[in-house]
Amino acid sequence: MSLPTVTLNDGNKIPVIGFGTGSSLYGKDATEYVDHALEAGFSHIDTAAIYKNEASVGEAIRASGLERSDLWVTTKYDGGDILQGIQTSLGKLGLKSVDLYLIHFPRLVSSDFEGAWEEFEKLKKDGLTKSIGVSNFSVQDLKTVVNSGSITPSVNQIRLHPYNYASYKDLFAYSAQHNIVIEAYGSLAPITTYPGGPVDKVLASIAKRIGGTPAQVIFKWVIAKGAVVVTTTSKESRLKEYLAVADLPDLTADEIAAIDEAGAKGPSSTSQAVARASFCALFTLSLASVYFFMLSPMALTRRSC
Ligand SMILES: NC(=O)c1ccc[n+]([C@@H]2O[C@H](COP(=O)([O-])OP(=O)(O)OC[C@H]3O[C@@H](n4cnc5c(N)ncnc54)[C@H](OP(=O)(O)O)[C@@H]3O)[C@@H](O)[C@H]2O)c1
Repeated sequence: MSLPTVTLNDGNKIPVIGFGTGSSLYGKDATEYVDHALEAGFSHIDTAAIYKNEASVGEAIRASGLERSDLWVTTKYDGGDILQGIQTSLGKLGLKSVDLYLIHFPRLVSSDFEGAWEEFEKLKKDGLTKSIGVSNFSVQDLKTVVNSGSITPSVNQIRLHPYNYASYKDLFAYSAQHNIVIEAYGSLAPITTYPGGPVDKVLASIAKRIGGTPAQVIFKWVIAKGAVVVTTTSKESRLKEYLAVADLPDLTADEIAAIDEAGAKGPSSTSQAVARASFCALFTLSLASVYFFMLSPMALTRRSC
């Protein structure tokens, strides 16, 4: 099964669904998961220095026996010297070059956007990466890079789902104007983070019509927006579900509009409260571990979620 591709502004073609090794795989050995993903038919892997598992991704790539040209590998810069950053990532991945190298967050380069982008352009010219792009950039961040550089970023990877789509009107317009492809992570938020909201009913009804699942409908919606899906799973059973998106009928214009409209209403207040509470619990847990291992009792009492 080969996935459709999206053509970037530099002519390179990126498979429309990528398997990510962040979020639930963050800090974990990802070999087995990437192994299963490649075996199932994924050809696009999304990793990052910050995920601390590039070496295990490299192991899975080598074990797959796939031709390098049959694989799209994205990784991301996480600060420090840019050339050294990509070289370290390439060393861990065991690759001579990646397909896409992204600035993971604008704050990593906020002291010198122009200088950082110039170095990114050099990485592309020197063949260390086929394409270059950014992640979590606002319109203003993008403008700084586009106006200063000679190469326009090929992609901007952002958190995109039906409940925040309306807030990205300007970003979509600016990206379309400059042929910057949006890559969407966190698209399954209506299922994973905000269940019980107004989008659920719409997804269920479309899922029934196309013979798919609500998750597949969300991915179809992302693709209909011209974006690339970056998702993940720790469960082998979901891999086929994700890839089968390519074989399902497209959403109609009315269905896309119905998801937009339901999404614009926002998630249910209960799910927002639950999402906030889970974030708070996670934050407190991380602080607690820091406390036990590193900090004095005084340090913790000064912090709260
Ligand atoms: N650039 C950035 O700043 C950034 C930030 C975050 C993520 N990312 C990238 O994007 C990738 C995906 O991120 P994401 O996790 O936010 O993507 P996502 O596609 O929104 O969510 C994937 C998660 O959804 C769960 N899921 C799927 N179907 C489900 C269902 N029917 N019911 C309940 N749970 C379901 C999966 O859990 P199971 O494991 O149980 O299947 C999986 O962990 C990351 O791995 C990373 O590569 C990038």
